[in-house]
Amino acid sequence: MAIISSKKQPQEPEGQPQEHQRLKKGVNSSPQPPPAQNLLQPQAAADELLKQEESIRPQRFADYIGQKDLKDVLDIAIKAAKVRGETLDHLLLYGPPGLGKTTMSLILAAEMGVECKITSAPALERPRDIVGLLMNLQPGDILFIDEIHRLSRMTEEILYPAMEDYRLDITIGKGSSAKTRSLPLPRFTLVGATTRMGALTSPLRDRFGLIQRLRFYEPDELSQIVLRTAQVLQTALTDDGAEEIARRSRGTPRIANRLLKRVRDYAQVKVSGPITQSVAAEALELFQVDPCGLDWTDRRMLSVMIEQFNGGPVGLETMAAATGEDTQTIEEVYEPYLMQISYLQRTPRGRVATPAAYKHLGFTPPNEQLSLIL
Ligand SMILES: Nc1ncnc2c1ncn2[C@@H]1O[C@H](COP(=O)(O)OP(=O)(O)OP(=O)(O)O)[C@@H](O)[C@H]1O
Ligand SMILES: [Mg+2]
Repeated sequence: MAIISSKKQPQEPEGQPQEHQRLKKGVNSSPQPPPAQNLLQPQAAADELLKQEESIRPQRFADYIGQKDLKDVLDIAIKAAKVRGETLDHLLLYGPPGLGKTTMSLILAAEMGVECKITSAPALERPRDIVGLLMNLQPGDILFIDEIHRLSRMTEEILYPAMEDYRLDITIGKGSSAKTRSLPLPRFTLVGATTRMGALTSPLRDRFGLIQRLRFYEPDELSQIVLRTAQVLQTALTDDGAEEIARRSRGTPRIANRLLKRVRDYAQVKVSGPITQSVAAEALELFQVDPCGLDWTDRRMLSVMIEQFNGGPVGLETMAAATGEDTQTIEEVYEPYLMQISYLQRTPRGRVATPAAYKHLGFTPPNEQLSLIL
């Protein structure tokens, strides 16, 4: 998975708030420098791609927590395919990073009793990369292509007949002597994953029988996920400790598991006994993860909107210029969670900070300022 990272270093905000009065000073009101390792980025860190990480990945449907709609749809699809003795329809999973797309694909293969071959679009640059993979498929196999919106045109065109008619069209030779040969392929299921549904070409999108969106997880679902991970890691964690970690995990299982591991380190060194709510809160405060899971950049984005643009509407390009982040990172990494917790709204005229965001950062929301004056 490509890591989208901010290129420029965020700068300190200039001057004091002019229009808006700060309610309090504290962790939330003054941006702090970003921590050395960004614990809250939803993309996988290098150590999270290692084999040992696989032990905390759920292996069966029953262990895959949350995403009820997705599970209901896939449960029916699996049962129907099994009854008919057929392969699953091609499936497109889309949603922000770290929500369980790869995990679901592996579970599907396990439930269907087939193999899952995993690749990602940037690894399929040359036509022969995809040809090699397709020719090695066994009947029923799942071919998982991550970041499928990044496929090259040539690779996409090879995939169309493969997906539709289980046929591989290859051209042999060049120029006027070139011939096209058609090879039959076994029936297989393509599972595509993307964080950017809008970037997919429509011919490719149309060839998926099932298109499913993954949504952010609720805190109680994340609590269950960290309790399960704690069990796998043989770490004692209380229910309220799990809730504290869940609340700060931005609706994302990958972040929840990462925070649990950092809290576990802290607990091992600083306290004896299980990870309780106060231990988790202390540890996460130390790692600068705020009680809503906002990090330095989220807070900076919101405070720039409030302090420099009266809370918006602000255009995406303007936000990017004012914060030093690139537009894609803002759109794909920061905004989805801020919108999920209702701190930010997208309107036709631009982005707007909500009263909840004002309060969280220690500002007085505009409507309340008015009532203070009157
Ligand atoms: N529903 C779930 N229940 C329990 N754990 C989960 C669930 N979904 C994801 N996880 C955990 O979160 C981690 C990240 O999930 P996964 O790798 O499937 O995300 P992804 O959507 O493929 O992310 P990316 O877009 O970065 O590829 C997994 O290792 C797994 O441990
Ligand atoms: Mg993945």
